[in-house]
Amino acid sequence: MSDLTEPVDRADLVPPHDLGTGDFSLYPIDHAMVAAALEDRTVRVEWDDGHVSRFHFPWLRDNCPCCVHPYTQEQVFELAAAVHEIRPEDVLVSDVGALEVRWSGDGHASRYHPGWLREHCYSEGSRRERLLAPVLWDASTRARPDGFDWGAVVADEEVELEWLSSIRDTGCAVIHGAPLTDDAVGEIAGRIGVLRETNFGRLFDVRVDTDPVSNSNTGLELPPHTDLPTREYQPGLQLLHCLVNDVAGGLSLLVDGYRVAAELRDRSPRFYELLTTHPWDFANRSRTSDYRWRAPMIGVDSDGNWTGVRVGNWLRGPLDAPFDLVEELYEAYRAFEGLSHQARFQIRFRLEPGDCLIFDNRRLLHGRTSLGPGAGRRHLRGCYMDRDELRSRLNMLERRRRARKVVAGQGP
Ligand code: OGA
Ligand code: ZN
Ligand code: ZN
Repeated sequence: MSDLTEPVDRADLVPPHDLGTGDFSLYPIDHAMVAAALEDRTVRVEWDDGHVSRFHFPWLRDNCPCCVHPYTQEQVFELAAAVHEIRPEDVLVSDVGALEVRWSGDGHASRYHPGWLREHCYSEGSRRERLLAPVLWDASTRARPDGFDWGAVVADEEVELEWLSSIRDTGCAVIHGAPLTDDAVGEIAGRIGVLRETNFGRLFDVRVDTDPVSNSNTGLELPPHTDLPTREYQPGLQLLHCLVNDVAGGLSLLVDGYRVAAELRDRSPRFYELLTTHPWDFANRSRTSDYRWRAPMIGVDSDGNWTGVRVGNWLRGPLDAPFDLVEELYEAYRAFEGLSHQARFQIRFRLEPGDCLIFDNRRLLHGRTSLGPGAGRRHLRGCYMDRDELRSRLNMLERRRRARKVVAGQGP
């Protein structure tokens, strides 16, 4: 297995025309700059496809690619420490196609790589193009998570990229053909990044226990929920690797929490508002630990984009809310739970030995049907990770894909 924590051969990183980018990635030059002009507060750049970018002076000065440490690529220039007014003396498109800016005051010259500059253009259209919106689904648009063969993932980084992109976009994927060993789930997680250990261990077992510490270690049905809603930062990824499954029942179940949130927003704006703004109390008390956290069930950022959902009927503590809101909050909660229990939002499928389900634990709700009576056994082994690991690995695979293209002569 390739180890992406190893630095890539530096020869792969030399950008075209020896232009630094202040970055470890290579940038294809899909468009050339045809003109650059100094405006009142911005530098205006025109591209060969007609696109126009405008960059503010502080933004350009802040992102000067030579003002970084040559090895770490971390910035050494401090905008806050600049003594001169941040204003170019002149700008031009150089004969190698770079944007050159000479700064008034200290006369520093910055040269911006065209591929890097275009990729960081912050015009409204470019920012919209870069948005990675989640691909919402329900039972009418998806029957099961996308499947990937473990051997193919290990052998081919393009397949690995597809697998991880599927988790990023749809919130889930299933690996088939993972080894039937106790540490396979750790190996799969390790391929993505660093595991997140919890009080349930580095890896945990989901099977019927005679002395269960959690409902998950019983034969009970588990209604749709997220794991560890009781933590300030719920794990972003969960892996469940199936070692044995010959019970009747025990089907895996997934719900796209963002799809349900969208439904609630459209049907009951007031309930949506309540669940995105008022915290609920979550608690997981055991004989040896006592975890509690308060947060809204539907998390949104300042642009209204979902950051996660937090749902777990049996992991809630007594609600502590303003007196006059309690009844309405319960109604809103019941509406949200009611939707997530509807078959039209749920997909159900059977995990076979060697399958490993990976899902975004802050977007999807997961659960299982009850384990039927009879002689069968069911044993899953799981672990948690944070979303950061997925994003970092995706970025690394993308970086290496670009490097491969350049080596293959397809790049500039
Ligand atoms: C859990 C859980 C799913 C399953 O243990 O929290 O959701 O398929 N288990 O048993
Ligand atoms: Zn510089
Ligand atoms: Zn769970």
